[in-house]
Amino acid sequence: MTDKLRPLKIAGLGYCVPETVITNDDLTKLYETSDEWIYTRTGIKERRVVSGNETAIDLGLDAAQKALAKSGLKPEDIDCVISAASVPPQLYPTLACTLQDKLGIPNQVPAFDLTAACTGLIYALQVARGFIGAGIYKTILIVASDNNSKITNWEDRGTSILFGDGAGAMVVTEAEDGIDDILSIQISADGSIGQMIQTNMPGQCCPLVEQADEVGTGKIIMNGKDVYKFAVTTVPAYVEDCIKKSGLTSEEIDYLIPHQANQRIIESIQNRLKYTDDKVISNIKYYGNTSAASIPIALVEGVEQGKIKLGSTAVLCGFGAGMTWGAAVVRLRKGIC
Ligand code: UT7
Repeated sequence: MTDKLRPLKIAGLGYCVPETVITNDDLTKLYETSDEWIYTRTGIKERRVVSGNETAIDLGLDAAQKALAKSGLKPEDIDCVISAASVPPQLYPTLACTLQDKLGIPNQVPAFDLTAACTGLIYALQVARGFIGAGIYKTILIVASDNNSKITNWEDRGTSILFGDGAGAMVVTEAEDGIDDILSIQISADGSIGQMIQTNMPGQCCPLVEQADEVGTGKIIMNGKDVYKFAVTTVPAYVEDCIKKSGLTSEEIDYLIPHQANQRIIESIQNRLKYTDDKVISNIKYYGNTSAASIPIALVEGVEQGKIKLGSTAVLCGFGAGMTWGAAVVRLRKGIC
């Protein structure tokens, strides 16, 4: 089945993070905590947050413009837009529709948001692969953008230490040279454990009827311990399985670019693959968990900092609310970022 799909080329990538930095020390102004506690438990030293009127739309727009520039393609070449955000700044118009307009992508082009929390980029890549593989669309813009700081409960020291804001974008297109940049990809979900991370939207019933017992706060509620256990027991074996399906061995893959949720979770995947530190891309120290954006931010920044040499292969993996998880083995061509 997969052999019959048209090949997909990853043509361009970009990322954007807000300028405002909140350090662990800054958080001590909000509640009792310490840089030492946060850093040893998570690997995080600081995170970026939007401020004023800035939202995930601005971050996504900037990331998308950079990805388009790198791809050498123009807004007119895009024939589908998929946005992935854990919680978009507005439910509608969607992030994808808003970006279609702001980027000057022709206004008949389909644009939609896809919600798979921190696994959003891998889910969007799988959907894009289906569209391109089946010949439905040729060139797709994927934008993963999150302003987590707006849905964070800043009184909860168990969750607000973790999250940060940022965006990543990827332009994918049918590969005219016949080389598929997706060597393997898989996505999964288990709704039966979905209560581990929740964001319940506020909203009352019609005033003429009985009201619900509880009204959502619109803020992240998380059982960190359960999420941690889920991640370290599920993700490493899943990544190994995805590598097996790519036809490569883990030694043959150049980099692990995981979702940046907790340094200890990253290390659990690293240990399973027996990778040395130079093969593992981690920037959680400076950005915290930027949800769906964390993989593309780590990838592009890794290239900019010389940690990733292009003309290589990488295994990407994500996991998050839903619960959802996914992995992909991809080819990183020269010049994509
Ligand atoms: O995309 C997926 C997103 N989610 C995740 O990846 C979350 C994964 N989970 C985690 O990263 C960890 O569970 C946390 C870092 C969130 C928490 O670490 P933990 O080792 O599971 O700590 P805990 O929640 O069990 O708390 C241990 C203690 C508690 O005190 P007591 O009850 O032992 O007295 C907490 O009240 O640490 C306390 N505590 C803190 N102390 C200082 C919790 N948060 C803090 C804090 N500063 N920020």
